[in-house]
Amino acid sequence: MQLKNNKHYDDKTLKRWIEDDSLTDELNKKADAIRKEIYGDKVYVRGLIEFSNICKNDCYYCGIRKSNDRVERYRLTKEEIISCARLGYQLGYRTFVLQGGEDGHFSDDIVVDIVKSIKEIHDDVAITLSLGERSYESYKRLFEAGADRYLLRQETSDKDHYEKLHPESMSFENRRKALRDLKEIGFQVGGGFMVGSPYQTTESLIKDLRFLEELEPAMIGIGPYMTQHDTPFKDFPNGSFEMTLRLVSILRILFPYALIPATTALGTINPLGRERGLQAGANVLMPNLSPTMVREKYSLYDNKICTGDEAAECRACLELRIKNAGYEIVTDRGDVITYDKETRRYS
Ligand code: 5AD
Ligand code: FES
Repeated sequence: MQLKNNKHYDDKTLKRWIEDDSLTDELNKKADAIRKEIYGDKVYVRGLIEFSNICKNDCYYCGIRKSNDRVERYRLTKEEIISCARLGYQLGYRTFVLQGGEDGHFSDDIVVDIVKSIKEIHDDVAITLSLGERSYESYKRLFEAGADRYLLRQETSDKDHYEKLHPESMSFENRRKALRDLKEIGFQVGGGFMVGSPYQTTESLIKDLRFLEELEPAMIGIGPYMTQHDTPFKDFPNGSFEMTLRLVSILRILFPYALIPATTALGTINPLGRERGLQAGANVLMPNLSPTMVREKYSLYDNKICTGDEAAECRACLELRIKNAGYEIVTDRGDVITYDKETRRYS
């Protein structure tokens, strides 16, 4: 089975969908219908554990970039990560997303040990890693240790644009290679990009859609670009909420089977952003399971939501909000629909 839609949408159509604010409702409805046909009203939840905000990279848009000396840095211990997972398990989470900056402390041995330990304690959970770029061999070891999925947004599929968002030390080609490596190894792979990042054009967004059509990821995460006051991009405005909603719908239309989160950035730019994201075709939520003490320090952008309803502990509030939006939270691993548990492969 193919993860993408067999139908080809030409650049002209995509351009109109991306740019025309009057199409938001129509696209949202079309996408919601496609999602309903495949995944029904189900919304999958993932407990997000932001285990380190230490990063060797210096992405110009990111609040935890290496050069930002105003961030208080933290790193959770293995025991702390495991205790987040235990709490999450009690709350009904069956996927844990371990996300962090590119922190050299987390060697293959250390991550392998954490993945194996969580899987030993909870044998029915899926583990998603989001640790940035690593070598093929490293990814392979992590997969063999039991990690199921890997999130690595391509950020942009336009080389010139990539070079405007990142310093010279980072490579457009490496990023794409990493995504292809992950897919080849067998991970359920998640790509994605920001909407409205500085210097982005409609053409670069179309390139993102084309790259994803080629990659056929199981998951696609997008959110609006959000200003962070301590970055070189502090004077650029936030991305557009409406355009992000249209892009969520476009993704659902292009990738009917994909797992698409209504992201934290979407929930930050608008108080009903995540509900609107679900209504636009998204089917995943990733509430924060990190210890409350460190949440504010994972400040990728300004005003990132991280307390109250956002907290994974508030499972009941979340369930109610989602129910009111017309959807139902389910407790299971929530693999992509074409995934085979025996072979750990998806088609
Ligand atoms: N605004 C929105 N999203 C951001 N990310 C990083 N910085 C920002 C920002 N300022 C996104 C990137 C990254 C993901 C973890 O968060 O796309 O891949
Ligand atoms: Fe590394 Fe943002 S620059 S996580």
